[in-house]
Amino acid sequence: MKISRRVASQRSDVAPFEAMETMREAAALEAAGRDIAHLEVGQPGEPAPKAALEAVRSALRDPLGYTVALGLAPLREGVADLYRARHGLVIDPSRIVATTGSSAGFQLAFIAAFNPGARIAMAEPGYPSYRQIASALGLTPVGLPVGPENRWTPTAAMLDAAAAEAPIDGVLIASPANPTGVAATRSELAALTGWCATNGAWFISDEIYHGLTYDEPAASALEFDNDAIIVSSFSKYFAMTGWRIGWMVLPEPLLRPIERLAQNLFICPPHVSQIAALAALSAEAALELEARREVYAANRDYLMRMLPELKLGGAAPCDGAFYLYFQLPDGAPNSKEWCAKLLHEAGVATTPGLDFDPRRGERTARISFAGSPEEVRKGAERIAAWAAKQDY
Ligand SMILES: Cc1ncc(COP(=O)(O)O)c(C=O)c1O
Repeated sequence: MKISRRVASQRSDVAPFEAMETMREAAALEAAGRDIAHLEVGQPGEPAPKAALEAVRSALRDPLGYTVALGLAPLREGVADLYRARHGLVIDPSRIVATTGSSAGFQLAFIAAFNPGARIAMAEPGYPSYRQIASALGLTPVGLPVGPENRWTPTAAMLDAAAAEAPIDGVLIASPANPTGVAATRSELAALTGWCATNGAWFISDEIYHGLTYDEPAASALEFDNDAIIVSSFSKYFAMTGWRIGWMVLPEPLLRPIERLAQNLFICPPHVSQIAALAALSAEAALELEARREVYAANRDYLMRMLPELKLGGAAPCDGAFYLYFQLPDGAPNSKEWCAKLLHEAGVATTPGLDFDPRRGERTARISFAGSPEEVRKGAERIAAWAAKQDY
């Protein structure tokens, strides 16, 4: 008998993205007539800013063909202006690359910066797709366990310990982070970028939650390391998740490799989304987006006050982003089961901690408060009523 080689590759054997799996299950329940409160995905409840929608309406008269692979020049200039306004940094727009969401940015950065087998250090808990993209590309994710004892942020000492086992080729940090919302302080960022410079490792900074901080604005890694690889997006602050548009700021040696990769892998980011993104950078859009940040802040404060009623504790500080990452009560089932029961019994979609932390995430879960205050209140009230009936 012939042996079949028609099987999926080993490298495609990555874990699912649990938040997206929950979203699919919630959609199936909704299709069957259930009302679900969506606290699972980090997706703003409001649409893209009005200026972006207007710009797209006018652009629909044009052919909207391919653009050059690195994106429209005015968009790249607009992103450079954003770094000047937010961080006082002067960046040549030629170093800025538009991407199909930050998700495409990670693929481009990982392929351009690392050879197969390279080790990339990242916080655990952290955004799950870092691990899965890295392993699908033949790279090795190295989890650095963070918690309240280190303010949920990796330290240079942890990198020393990881490098003692085998060299670390890159360090990837999100600040503010998903799922904790914790923003690295300036001195923490300086220490981590400094470690990378000393050890010849790339520093990749996921700045997707910039603009969404509730106390101090987040610092950019570029303020400390001009060769840091910045990956960012219009998905969160600009409320444009489904438009699939983001950007990178690149060090000179990666520019041409990434241009060649982008041409071949994606041709270009969606033209219509580039037009929308440029308008989302306008002063008019900024007024609208700042008002939304205040709504997220109020959602966060409301949930923090509600935590005892929800029977949840140990929440990470949440300096920014729109998530609460918390401990499940003693005696509660593991996080996958807890989230599944909550979804089916109470109609609230949340994300199990195992998505973010494969080693310790059985006792944690994440709530997203990116939705409207009504959605967040509906979800919290349902969790409180359900939690009151549990015998733990
Ligand atoms: C930390 C972080 N990085 C990247 C992404 C991917 O975002 P996108 O591809 O929409 O830019 C997300 C999405 O939730 C995220 O939380």
